[in-house]
Amino acid sequence: MTASHGWMLSLGVFVLPSLSVPVDVSSPFLGINYGDLMAKSIGEGCTQNITQTPDEQTRDGFLARLATDDAPACLTTSMALTVVKEEGFRHLKVFEEKLGLDESFFSPLDAGDLVLTRVSEVFRDADDAAHVWLQLPNGFLKHIRDNSSYAHDIIALIKEHDDIVDVVILGNEPFLFPEAAKDEFLPAYGVFKEAASQAQLDAHLTTVLANSVIQNTFPSIDAAEMVPSYLELLEPFLTDLRASSSPVMVNIFPWFAFSGAPVEVGLPYALGYRDPPIEVDGRNYTFIWDAQYDAVVTALDKAGFGDLPLVIGETSWPSDGDNPVYVNKTTAHIHYASVKKRVLMDIGTPKYPGRQIPVFYFIAFDRMNATSYGFPPVEQYLGLHSEEGVAKFDIGSVAEWGEGDEQVIPHMPNNSLAI
Ligand SMILES: *[C@@H]1O[C@H](CO)[C@@H](O)[C@H](O)[C@H]1NC(C)=O
Ligand SMILES: *[C@@H]1O[C@H](CO)[C@@H](O)[C@H](O)[C@H]1NC(C)=O
Ligand SMILES: *[C@@H]1O[C@H](CO)[C@@H](O)[C@H](O)[C@H]1NC(C)=O
Ligand SMILES: *[C@@H]1O[C@H](CO)[C@@H](O)[C@H](O)[C@H]1NC(C)=O
Ligand SMILES: *[C@@H]1O[C@H](CO)[C@@H](O)[C@H](O)[C@H]1NC(C)=O
Ligand SMILES: *[C@@H]1O[C@H](CO)[C@@H](O)[C@H](O)[C@H]1NC(C)=O
Repeated sequence: MTASHGWMLSLGVFVLPSLSVPVDVSSPFLGINYGDLMAKSIGEGCTQNITQTPDEQTRDGFLARLATDDAPACLTTSMALTVVKEEGFRHLKVFEEKLGLDESFFSPLDAGDLVLTRVSEVFRDADDAAHVWLQLPNGFLKHIRDNSSYAHDIIALIKEHDDIVDVVILGNEPFLFPEAAKDEFLPAYGVFKEAASQAQLDAHLTTVLANSVIQNTFPSIDAAEMVPSYLELLEPFLTDLRASSSPVMVNIFPWFAFSGAPVEVGLPYALGYRDPPIEVDGRNYTFIWDAQYDAVVTALDKAGFGDLPLVIGETSWPSDGDNPVYVNKTTAHIHYASVKKRVLMDIGTPKYPGRQIPVFYFIAFDRMNATSYGFPPVEQYLGLHSEEGVAKFDIGSVAEWGEGDEQVIPHMPNNSLAI
């Protein structure tokens, strides 16, 4: 749904050679997307908080949230990572959409090495280890397809950081368009898988499926199914995921469902506190997120892949935007708390009660340079923090359910947020 960022995986019968990295996708976790942090030209406005040499500063700044004109505070990569570490995040989905092979002034591999090194440093003293899910941008796929050395170089980098990299995500929603999936993702996955096998890479490979691969999700969730033409493409890949005990991922954005039909969906259902619930297939739904999740699991299940661990790669609600409608820090906070409740309280969804649901929030920091795909534009304001690293609301600790979380979810039926 949002900008495509990411990396991915492959086809054919493929069993990863060893699975010594404990990728626990069976227990739920709340992680965070971290990346796309290239807001300003390097060094611009950075007048304080800099302890590195100019060269280090330049390199660090490349992936850091840099200063804006009116707020010349500099958040380096280490400082940005410290912010999310202190909030209890241990799972980081790291991506950098703009890390094109041709456009960067230092190579994507150097940049990847830099951010992974910083993660190791910052999380060294944390009570739990960091778990990085490294997402390769869609722009990498054709390069990997065309030149296996590139796959080998990426894998060599990951192996240098194999204590923190649990999963490599090839691309973001590469199945959005069947031609791109066929021409770029599947061949790139084949090349990468082979290189990973040769190198005995421990990290799991996966990708993020797009909602376009499922159909018939409304008005009945039970009728949801994979689009047959996509299923044909996906089947060998999903079979690989099962063989290697790897998860499959999707993104869930109630905001887009709501903004397309605000009156029909209604804010309470979009944010997770509808009262009375909507009855679908004899089950009561209070949160459209649950319905979106259940439709995906139903479709995977019908195709014979309901047993794959399903991880939500992105979920978000904007806090601002041009011509804002129903977007502010309060509605954003309610969204994250409703999702957090499902993840931490093991309540699952109406169709799959008790099911454990790992989720990555989208995204750690606002990105004022992000391209907006939604209308009105909101893509820039999906961060839990401003570009300067200031939390937009009381995030509390993502490791536990707190009073602040409880309070933000409206209890009163038909309260002032309802439309
Ligand atoms: C971000 O946007 C600003 C303002 O449009 C522009 O000057 C700057 O070059 C952009 N930075 C990047 C890294 O694209
Ligand atoms: C940056 O430096 C200023 C002044 O030295 C300090 O007040 C501020 O807390 C620092 N910011 C961060 C994020 O460390
Ligand atoms: C393939 O990529 C490697 C770097 O990984 C590069 O040295 C080599 O020139 C590339 N080969 C071609 C044919 O582009
Ligand atoms: C759904 O909720 C309504 C109350 O709004 C209740 O009457 C009904 O029994 C519930 N249905 C199920 C299947 O739980
Ligand atoms: C946030 O948006 C909701 C829905 O439009 C509105 O009811 C609420 O007053 C807004 N809150 C703030 C602080 O603007
Ligand atoms: C909330 O409002 C709807 C629509 O006006 C109404 O049907 C419903 O009974 C109300 N719910 C409660 C719990 O008052």
